[in-house]
Amino acid sequence: MDKQIVLTGDRPTGKLHLGHYIGSLKNRLDLQNSNDYEMFILLADQQALTDNAKNPDKIIKSIEDVALDYLAVGLDPLKSTIFIQSQIPQLSELYSYFSNLVTINNLLRNPTIKNEISQRNFNKSIPAGFLNYPIAQAADILAFKADLVPVGDDQKPMIELTNKIVRSFNLTYNTNILKPISAIYPNNNFGRLLGTDRKNKMSKSLNNAIFLSDDMDTIKSKVMKLYTDPDHINIDDPGKIENNMVFYYIDAISNENDKPEIEKLKSHYQRGGLSDKKTKKYLIDLFDRELSPIRNKRNELSKDMTEVYNMLKIGCDKAKYKAEITLDQVKSAMGINYF
Ligand code: TRP
Repeated sequence: MDKQIVLTGDRPTGKLHLGHYIGSLKNRLDLQNSNDYEMFILLADQQALTDNAKNPDKIIKSIEDVALDYLAVGLDPLKSTIFIQSQIPQLSELYSYFSNLVTINNLLRNPTIKNEISQRNFNKSIPAGFLNYPIAQAADILAFKADLVPVGDDQKPMIELTNKIVRSFNLTYNTNILKPISAIYPNNNFGRLLGTDRKNKMSKSLNNAIFLSDDMDTIKSKVMKLYTDPDHINIDDPGKIENNMVFYYIDAISNENDKPEIEKLKSHYQRGGLSDKKTKKYLIDLFDRELSPIRNKRNELSKDMTEVYNMLKIGCDKAKYKAEITLDQVKSAMGINYF
């Protein structure tokens, strides 16, 4: 049987952080390393440009950063196809045909778009490309005949729109070449990891992120500032685990084998007698164990960017080949295959 196809991606708007790692990269690694799937990973630079038209340099720089982050965590170009959206013109062509099947009212109702419009102060003047990006995202997904699309909860409206386009296209052109897709949403408590401010999800723009590329000194100083339990004043006082960011990150970054030790640590803290200094030290050691290999690999890879671009070029060539096949089928189904 053919392997199921997985497609997912990120907007290149900055370096990746712990929230990306816990919420999506680890899951991608599991999918990749199971060898049960064919995986495509898209660097959505065109989508990033829909609200950064005047800032192409930021997006271009971020392509490098995100590609390095991907490779450093273990995404492997020999197993997964990593490619850049803007280099696959077939995606834009598909998008133009799909856009005839979607109404502006539908786009304006998209809750994620609504949110982004108000965050970006686009209320009075929404760039057309921005409003339309969910259609382009559907093209990204359908071009590769994806079965599964691992995304965050906020992407639900994009998944629904994609399936709406599938139904509408097949009905309109009396075909069945497009297949409905299924989303995979994060299945752990850390799908939307909180930032170091404890209030918002981790995000570069909110200054509450721990980056995969942060050095240990930076990580230490971020950990030392973490919110713990305000009532845990003396070491002997009983401490609370709930809402304590040190334990929150310990749970997020640790693995099954760490569990017994962490349980002991937690009950000691709750009983009293364990200092925040010690729990922070435990977290710093965990970060060192998990993130230092990633950072070291990243530093190593960044010495040869030519090699990184070669890898991306190979990914783009593969992606182009696949997208071309779907584009041909789409145009044939529409009857615009003249020659
Ligand atoms: N919109 C996604 C995000 O902001 C990124 C993205 C672009 C994507 N194209 C995609 C995700 C296709 C999954 C499939 O995170």
